[in-house]
Amino acid sequence: MKRVLLLLLLLLTLLSSLSVAARAFDASAAWDDQCAKCHGKDGAGGTKMGKKLNIKDYTDAKVQAEFTDEQACKALKEGIKDKAGKSRMKAVEGMSDDDINAMVKLFRGLKK
Ligand code: HEC
Repeated sequence: MKRVLLLLLLLLTLLSSLSVAARAFDASAAWDDQCAKCHGKDGAGGTKMGKKLNIKDYTDAKVQAEFTDEQACKALKEGIKDKAGKSRMKAVEGMSDDDINAMVKLFRGLKK
């Protein structure tokens, strides 16, 4: 009986550590994975995709001042379309509001 309880305890500890690991969001890894191909690792937009899309230089404080945090969150949630309705930036997938806030914080930090 004692053994079963111990095993159960072990299982519970394992499960809870697993769920913590699954929930931890790494904004910097997400940036490298999902954003840097267009914006560049540094945010200047100097990548092939960045040039093709004519992306602004987000290391520039003036460019960063052109939008609010709310607008940035909205852009991440809904994506960005051009005037003709063609997608310029896709909406993020599988990110919670907290994750999105963390991305916006990181994005603000690109400013030189
Ligand atoms: C397919 C290329 C592409 C990818 C991938 C991409 N973006 Fe963008 N992003 C753009 C374009 C295009 C704009 C509009 C920029 C412009 O007008 O110069 C933009 C603008 C933004 C803006 C400014 C929004 C505003 O209100 O002006 C933020 C913030 C942003 N991106 C964050 C991100 C984050 C975070 C990721 C990764 C999760 C990401 N982007 C991935 C292309 C991309």
